[in-house]
Amino acid sequence: MTATVDSTTPRPGDVLVVFGITGDLARVMTFRSLYRLEGRGLLDCPIVGVAADDWTVDQLVERARTSIEATGEQLDEEVFKRFADRLSYVGGDFTDPATYGRVGEAIKGAQTPVFYLEIPPFLFGNVVAGLAGADLSQDARIVVEKPFGHDQQSARALAAELHQYVDESQLFRIDHYLGKMGLEEILHLRFANAILEPIWSRNYLDCVQITMAEDFGVDDRGSFYDPVGALRDVVVNHLMQLVSAAAMEPPSRGDLHSVKESQVALFRAVVEADPAHYVRGQYDGYQDIKGVAPGSTTETYAALRLDIENWRWAGVPFFIRTGKRLPFTQTELRLVFKRPPRLGFWPKNHDPEPNQLVIKLDPSTGIRFQVDARRTDLGRIGPIELEMEFTAEGGEGATPYETLLHAALTGDSTRFSRQDGVEETWRVMQPLLDAPPPIHPYVPGTWGPSAANDVTAGMGGWRTPWVPG
Ligand code: BG6
Repeated sequence: MTATVDSTTPRPGDVLVVFGITGDLARVMTFRSLYRLEGRGLLDCPIVGVAADDWTVDQLVERARTSIEATGEQLDEEVFKRFADRLSYVGGDFTDPATYGRVGEAIKGAQTPVFYLEIPPFLFGNVVAGLAGADLSQDARIVVEKPFGHDQQSARALAAELHQYVDESQLFRIDHYLGKMGLEEILHLRFANAILEPIWSRNYLDCVQITMAEDFGVDDRGSFYDPVGALRDVVVNHLMQLVSAAAMEPPSRGDLHSVKESQVALFRAVVEADPAHYVRGQYDGYQDIKGVAPGSTTETYAALRLDIENWRWAGVPFFIRTGKRLPFTQTELRLVFKRPPRLGFWPKNHDPEPNQLVIKLDPSTGIRFQVDARRTDLGRIGPIELEMEFTAEGGEGATPYETLLHAALTGDSTRFSRQDGVEETWRVMQPLLDAPPPIHPYVPGTWGPSAANDVTAGMGGWRTPWVPG
């Protein structure tokens, strides 16, 4: 959600320093996102790349070009030249204080530097300490990539390490779901429509279902994924952001603090997850992937139930499922409404279906209402679908990383995870980490293990996602 009112509007960043610019994330995401910001006229500062490699700026520019082209982006030479002219490079070991001296030289005069750490989390402390040691951290923003710990305790330890050098307000933790157009869409739909807000509660809803399905597998990410698993990879962070957007109260104002407060207040109301309502699956063939431990019990599929104890949501379960190697790639939020009463003028066994409202986030964004109508073809009541792709009205949104890097530069902290929110989401998931249920195998290309049906039993089961028809 974009902040609109703020008495203390943040100062724009006046230099962007990317640690780890020679790495994979930069190749796949960062160069392209920055180039697109340049094309939209939203980039307004120099960019300094920092990495251990002994590179020249020409090598960096060449890497930027090949990286952007490899993403399928059509390169506009004029835009690329403007972008390339912003680039400079500092080589050096992240544990060597002299590196930070050179970074200081490269950004001399900057008032609000933005340091983006695209590096493994075990190096965050080193880099932030190095920046502080060179007197560069005072008015800086520090942007870090997930994971933010691997449980509640390690998340706290990581924050404590960073807080020795920088204040929480300077830390911008990236969860790329906070840059997704669909997530923002949920907040706007909920709070800009008088026909939606009042029905978005336990007064009208039976349950909420979130599905994040991916048709691809772990592939070449075995050594990253195996110690992590689906719960830590996408549920505790991305899907909890989706829960928050779907369930939070409207912020009282548009300023950064109020928006963040509403998000975190929602997390506080979520009850610790119960392992009795948690099913883990692993697709057949996962164990053959390079980097996966023999006999691994890591989940590539997770289905669980969350409960939110507040006046809006008590009694409405939030069901979440996600998995790799499922039939489709599709992420959606689905509200399932209460069953209408049986009125007797419908033929036996043809009672109306509960209404459903779906907002899909990926691979495209859209909204669908499923309502019941008297259909001539059936001669009775039957479901009809009213739907719209958001791109058909309003066009394509920016990609998540464009949105996030721009937010980091402008200081819009609503796009980033705050430490108390991170700790709350770990609190919710901790019982599942402490007592993980056994793993169920599933066949690639199916909707996961059949045991997952137990999670939604009694609530009409998992609804088939809205997939391209
Ligand atoms: C990443 C996870 O954070 O998010 C991946 O590490 C996952 O495993 C990805 O596939 C999903 O993001 P998106 O934007 O493609 O839905």
